[in-house]
Amino acid sequence: MKGLILSGGKGTRLYPITFNRAKQLVPVANKPVLFRVIEAIKEAGIDDIGIVIGDTGAEIREAVGHGRRWGVNITYIPQEAPLGLAHAVKISQDFLGDERFVMFLGDNVIQGGISGLIRQFASSTWNSQVVLTEVDQPQHYGVAELDEQGKIKQLIEKPRNPPSNLALVGIYMFDHNVFTAVNAIKPSWRGELEITDAIQWLVENGFAVHPYVHRGWWIDTGKPIDMLEANNRVLAELEHKIEGYIDRDSKVDHLVTIERGAEIINSVIRGPAIIGEDTRIVNSYVGPFTSIFHHTVIEDSEIEHSIVLDHSRIVGIPSRIEDSIIGRDVEISYSPIKPKAYKMTLGDHSRVGLL
Ligand code: DAU
Repeated sequence: MKGLILSGGKGTRLYPITFNRAKQLVPVANKPVLFRVIEAIKEAGIDDIGIVIGDTGAEIREAVGHGRRWGVNITYIPQEAPLGLAHAVKISQDFLGDERFVMFLGDNVIQGGISGLIRQFASSTWNSQVVLTEVDQPQHYGVAELDEQGKIKQLIEKPRNPPSNLALVGIYMFDHNVFTAVNAIKPSWRGELEITDAIQWLVENGFAVHPYVHRGWWIDTGKPIDMLEANNRVLAELEHKIEGYIDRDSKVDHLVTIERGAEIINSVIRGPAIIGEDTRIVNSYVGPFTSIFHHTVIEDSEIEHSIVLDHSRIVGIPSRIEDSIIGRDVEISYSPIKPKAYKMTLGDHSRVGLL
């Protein structure tokens, strides 16, 4: 089997974090979501992986390279514009050939990996397998309606009146018949070739599409709140390890990872949390569900339930920072100089909540 990861698109819902970077490269528990997807596919025994890229392709190529780090072989498939998930399949036909394949959205995080699912599909005669899960707001997803025998009756993309609460998770398995389907469908109201419509076409034309209902957690990291949620989930299940330095005046819980070169000086770190490579935490408190990425400094400050990206500095902040996503190369500091005022240089689409 082959793997196909979709990493095109623009990521507008994660602005400003993704203003100038690929959303699939935003780290969750200090590892980009895309790397977690590659690992899940490799773990399922698949070495040949295509990645569909768009505007942020150069950055993705630079971060992932040929895939040697994971022992996989990566082929990049440029998509001229985000014309839909089925369009992405269409342009990948040369890479996929006649092989069965798994398609994984590059911004999705799922509990428990996909090895079992892949094995099941590889040894079956099904033409496709889709992964479904119960969600609270099905109108934001592709939705499946099953009949009494648990077979797919109908699939609809982002329906106004959802027929069920079973959403299509961003993991799909297909054989070559999907190419006939993606060539047969027309663009949807949002101007995209929808993979949901292509699967509906397979169902209507008598192909075997098997629905698998996933019971663990699954997160589409489309919005900042989802990013924090994914961070919580992954941190809680991570195997934690201490590789950096902790001084005698610090207190570090057992569910904490301190990565290589990090230094914890006179600080308290409550788990689950992760502190990245060469990051310094000085006279500070880092609370549960916090990921601080590489080369960052937190000094005389308190932070909890947040993600901080690389090369940022948070120094002398008098009140605790919570529920925040702080980008790359950001500086937040306290200045005693009068006049007493907030001084900010914020990029487009920034969000700041002040006391
Ligand atoms: O997350 C699950 C949902 O993903 C499903 O329930 C929906 O049925 C499915 O259509 C999809 O909906 P989204 O609106 O969330 O898809 P989004 O536009 O966010 O794209 C998902 C990923 O695919 C993202 O990593 C970007 C990439 N992509 C997207 C498009 C439209 C491409 O690589 N090329 C594209 O043309």
